[in-house]
Amino acid sequence: MNIAVFASHGGSDLQAIIDGCRDGRINATVKVVISNNRDSMALVRSNGEGIPNYHMSVKKYGSEEALAKEILNVLNQYSIDMIFLAGYMRMLHISILEKYNNRVFNIHPALLPKFGGKGMYGMNVHTAVIAAKEKETGVTIHRVNAEYDSGEIVAQTKVNVYENDTPEILADRVLEREHEFLVEVISDIVCGKIPLG
Ligand code: GRF
Repeated sequence: MNIAVFASHGGSDLQAIIDGCRDGRINATVKVVISNNRDSMALVRSNGEGIPNYHMSVKKYGSEEALAKEILNVLNQYSIDMIFLAGYMRMLHISILEKYNNRVFNIHPALLPKFGGKGMYGMNVHTAVIAAKEKETGVTIHRVNAEYDSGEIVAQTKVNVYENDTPEILADRVLEREHEFLVEVISDIVCGKIPLG
C-alpha cells in the first residue's frame, strides 16, 4: 500500500509512520510527503529519509482549486492508496476528499468528539482539557470529511491527565502515545481490519 503523508510542522508523527514502515510493523511505504509550510521539519525529515516531498500552498499555485489540482497530480503520480494527515493545518479540498473517499485519515490529540473542531489544535487542545479538569484525554484517528474533526472515528486510545499537568507536559505525554498508536492503527488499516472505502 502506498501512503501519502501531509504535515505542516514538526513531523514527529510522520517520523513514527516512516519508522513503522521501514521496520516492517506497517506493511506499506510512505511514497510522498506534502507540506503547506516550506520551513516544516516534515520536509527536512523526508529529505533525510530520501522520500520525495513537496511544498504545496495556495500562495504558490494561486487558488484552492489550482492547489488541489496539483496535489491530485502528485498523488496520482505516486499511485497513492491512502492519505494520512499528521499535523496538517489545512482543510483538504473537496475534490481530493471525493477522489480518496474514506481513504483520508487524521490524527487528533484528544478524545473526539470532545475538544475538536475549528481552533482546536496544538496546545489549544491540551489547555482546554486541563481547564475542563478532565481525568483522561487521548488520541483519536478518524476519517476526514469536509468538516473539522467530525469524520468517522476508527480508533481511540486513552491517556491519563494528572493534577499537576501543564499543557506542555500533557502534550508530550499524548504525542508519545500518538507515535505508538499511529503504527498500530495504520497497520490495522493496511491489513484490512479497518476497511478502506
Ligand atoms: C499531533 O499532536 C497530532 O495529533 C496533531 O498535530 C500534531 C503533530 O505533531 N494533528 P508533529 O508535527 O507530528 O510532531
